[in-house]
Amino acid sequence: MASIVLFGPPGAGKGTQAAIIMAETGLPQVSTGDMLRAALSQGSSLGMEAKSFMEAGKLVPDSIIIGLIENRLKENDASNGVLLDGFPRTIAQAEALMEIEEVEVVLSIEVPDERIIKRICGRYSCPQCGAVYHDSFNPTTSEDICDNCSHHGMKRRADDNEETVSSRLKAYHSQTRPLADWYSQRGLFQAVDGDRDIELVGQSLLKVLSELRGE
Ligand code: AP5
Repeated sequence: MASIVLFGPPGAGKGTQAAIIMAETGLPQVSTGDMLRAALSQGSSLGMEAKSFMEAGKLVPDSIIIGLIENRLKENDASNGVLLDGFPRTIAQAEALMEIEEVEVVLSIEVPDERIIKRICGRYSCPQCGAVYHDSFNPTTSEDICDNCSHHGMKRRADDNEETVSSRLKAYHSQTRPLADWYSQRGLFQAVDGDRDIELVGQSLLKVLSELRGE
């Protein structure tokens, strides 16, 4: 089976929608951002190398990211395909992916820049299960308690501040957005309007998938 790529600017809702698509398809989520943050919190050399790029809102070099993905896709749970979240982000990464994995579709969540800062600066998540919330748009039912796993204590990301978001958006437009044309030329790019309620965006993404699969 092939893999699905979730594409879009920072804060578009890739992680949020990944949970919905995983529940429907059973594919494991592979988020390069989560992998880098895990490496950073473990203090590994990979995490140390990535740290300054992430803090500055710049892309981590392709050589590091491609190696990370090559190893992850060799793991047993990836044998039937994965749900890629935040990868690929450059043409070089997409070319490398093409060599190691078939891509079924690139699902793009389209959100205008002016919406992004508010989304990112209000984000928090559960350190135990990874569920993503937002101060105004998607808060936990009880303050500081995860709706999904009941863990007490939420966390915020170090790079979720206005200054870093603007660098992340610049990197998105200059290095990542060109992939929209790259994948369109290969007949793999499908965009949905991400500037709507979370449930509606999820329904649109699942509709694209089921139409593609002739279900
Ligand atoms: P990464 O962790 O991938 O961050 P990102 O792409 O900036 O994406 P985010 O995780 O910020 O957003 P998201 O789209 O998942 O949105 P979410 O669902 O959380 O990367 C971090 C860094 O790692 C990069 O800057 C780079 O340095 C490095 N990196 C990672 N991968 C790399 C790669 N391949 N190459 C090079 N470097 C790499 O939603 C955001 C908020 O909005 C949440 O609070 C959510 O509740 C809310 N929300 C979601 N959907 C909606 C909606 N429809 N309406 C209202 N609110 C919503």
